[in-house]
Amino acid sequence: MFHLFSKLLTFKNYYLRSMKSIVLLGAGNVATHLCKAIYNSLGFKVIQVYNRNENSLAFFPSALDKTYSLAKIKEADIYIIAVPDDAIVSFSESLLIKNKLVVHTSGSVAMEALSDKNRKGVFYPLQSFSKNSEVDFSEIPMCIEAQNESDLGLLNQLGNSISNNVLAVSSEKREKIHLSAVIVNNFVNYLYQVGNDLMQEQSLSFDLLKPLILETANKINTLAPAEAQTGPAKRNDKKTIEKQLHLLKDSPYKDIYQDITNSILKKYNNH
Ligand SMILES: NC(=O)c1ccc[n+]([C@@H]2O[C@H](COP(=O)([O-])OP(=O)(O)OC[C@H]3O[C@@H](n4cnc5c(N)ncnc54)[C@H](OP(=O)(O)O)[C@@H]3O)[C@@H](O)[C@H]2O)c1
Repeated sequence: MFHLFSKLLTFKNYYLRSMKSIVLLGAGNVATHLCKAIYNSLGFKVIQVYNRNENSLAFFPSALDKTYSLAKIKEADIYIIAVPDDAIVSFSESLLIKNKLVVHTSGSVAMEALSDKNRKGVFYPLQSFSKNSEVDFSEIPMCIEAQNESDLGLLNQLGNSISNNVLAVSSEKREKIHLSAVIVNNFVNYLYQVGNDLMQEQSLSFDLLKPLILETANKINTLAPAEAQTGPAKRNDKKTIEKQLHLLKDSPYKDIYQDITNSILKKYNNH
């Protein structure tokens, strides 16, 4: 019995020693969700979170080492920068560490833009994050990139420890992925806002549109977008289009209706 216990202890110590260490740089949406996901993963542990100010660090577990001093950033296997896109380049320059694997989490910033002081990489989760909304990382595609095979291998391991969908993509391809993500996520959500405003003008609840929104999103699991398209522009129903444009004659949303309608007409009816 004692023999088995001591073997288990040795295995546990070996496992803890072989775990790869991560320092998170930033304490916003992505850093918060990554921290939780890595905490529940096998083989990797977050050993520290850095942020430029103390307040945002308060939301991280008290057991975790936190710092707002660049000079106190610990030695680690991977450093993950999760700061806004326009701050990534200057922030990576400001790091005092050298020859380490430093990755960012952005869809649109090129890997090469990171400082030459360190080995570069990307660990981009293809999802939209808000601090208070839970996400299931196992479903999130993780787009990875690195300058050499061994770093790519390590990022692949990290990706696989939190997600079932890890893919190596170049900065050029990731830019296009991010562009598509902006269209299917941010643009579509903005159109919900347009629908919401038009409903509110008539004192109608946006809730009435929710079954339609959910059904349309659901259909994408079984149909290609082109097959799922419906509506007056797809049918080339000019009368309805004219009527709806008339309803929008004094609305700020007239142009957006016209532009998207034209685009659909062109795609399906050779206009
Ligand atoms: N949010 C998403 O849905 C999402 C999805 C995929 C990828 N990403 C990418 O992940 C990265 C982080 O996004 P996020 O949504 O987590 O951002 P966020 O919630 O706005 O958090 C940004 C973090 O960076 C810090 N920060 C801001 N400006 C800084 C600067 N000039 N120097 C150093 N630190 C600075 C902030 O510190 P303070 O607390 O002091 O302000 C905060 O901790 C971005 O590259 C983004 O493109 C985001």
